[in-house]
Amino acid sequence: MNITAAEYAERRRKVLEILGDHVLILFSNFEHQKNSDVNFKFRQDSSFYYLTGFNEPDSILVLDPQGDDKFLMFVPPKDSHMEMWEGFRYGPKGVVETFGADKAWDNSELGKALMNRLKYRSVQVIEKSHHPLQEELQEIIFKSGAQREKQYAYREIHRMRKVKSAAEIELIRKACRISSAAHNLLIENVKDFTNEADLENEFVYFCAKQGSQDQAYYPIMASGENATCLHYQVNNQAIDKQGNILVDAGCSVDYYASDITRTFPASGSFTEEQRLIYKAVLKTQKLCLEAVRPGISFLEIDQIARKSITEGLINIGLIIVPLEEAMRKELCKEFYPHNIGHHLGLDVHDCDGLDYEEQRGRNVKYKLEEGMVITIEPGIYIQNDNLTVHAKWRGIGVRIEDDILITEDGHENLTFAAYKELDDIER
Ligand code: GLY
Ligand code: MN
Ligand code: MN
Repeated sequence: MNITAAEYAERRRKVLEILGDHVLILFSNFEHQKNSDVNFKFRQDSSFYYLTGFNEPDSILVLDPQGDDKFLMFVPPKDSHMEMWEGFRYGPKGVVETFGADKAWDNSELGKALMNRLKYRSVQVIEKSHHPLQEELQEIIFKSGAQREKQYAYREIHRMRKVKSAAEIELIRKACRISSAAHNLLIENVKDFTNEADLENEFVYFCAKQGSQDQAYYPIMASGENATCLHYQVNNQAIDKQGNILVDAGCSVDYYASDITRTFPASGSFTEEQRLIYKAVLKTQKLCLEAVRPGISFLEIDQIARKSITEGLINIGLIIVPLEEAMRKELCKEFYPHNIGHHLGLDVHDCDGLDYEEQRGRNVKYKLEEGMVITIEPGIYIQNDNLTVHAKWRGIGVRIEDDILITEDGHENLTFAAYKELDDIER
């Protein structure tokens, strides 16, 4: 199911309502140079995409609640020479016809179209430094006597983005389905891989063949002790045949992300130590999942995870003080140094226009609601330089991460199909 024109229009209508008499100006992304004559692959700004569905750089969206023309766009001009080199552009006319803008102009016509409109108005500007239109817009705002206001509409857009529509859920569901199958492919064929790069290539190729256009983030293909590095991305080391492989990878479908982690033994069977750590993480993840429903916060789920991981570490002898003392001293932090999860959507860490506390639900008042999609991803990592534990434990890193839709009375695991039980993985 695609996001319909009507859904984009409804999103803009809600934002227009929030704005009162303010004008909202939102920048698209722009091209970033990688090296000589080569750019990084273009990726649209997520909120700009959320409100327009428009996928070209160097553009500006203006939402003006006053007057007949409320949805205005400035976009790269039609230019047969540039299009011969760089590909198709919709141009202003195409943006009106295809994306439903009330009016659209070439991005060189900012002054002509905005100077009068912004005269003495209140504006909320969500700008990007180094955007090619930034300086010109600043000058127009200055000359028109417009008043810059606090960007509360931007926060509201991210609040809207937290709760997914049926069409968004279908896109995330598809990304989750493809990524789950890609994880299973790596697990099933683990013995064929000799280098982390092989895992990455296989994963990305499979996802692309299944209809995903991109990875939602740089995949983490961490063999052996590399699994203890939380954002490992080197992905070019020989596979340690005695170690685990931690794969944190998820594709995106029409910009909507999936985000899955699985950990499995390179040899096909866990060692005793790996198995004990894996069991403690899996038990924790299941306990957390049991609690996921509308009305609970990330903070409360994280507390469940911390208690369970601490108990697990006490049971296997990696923490040697009683539970109450270990909890008070937060001893599990050394082994589990991240949060239990995050929102998932257009961005893998979704809704970053909110304060961190709200984005990550680090306060019980930020409750999960039906239609939100989150990750649940506890882990235990024992660093190689941790001399407080016996050498046999060092270099083990385990994380298990699923993507979870909050439903009316509980949740649905969208990545249920990726092998997670010990027996399934070893089989
Ligand atoms: N893959 C990044 C994360 O799990 O949050
Ligand atoms: Mn995650
Ligand atoms: Mn992840």
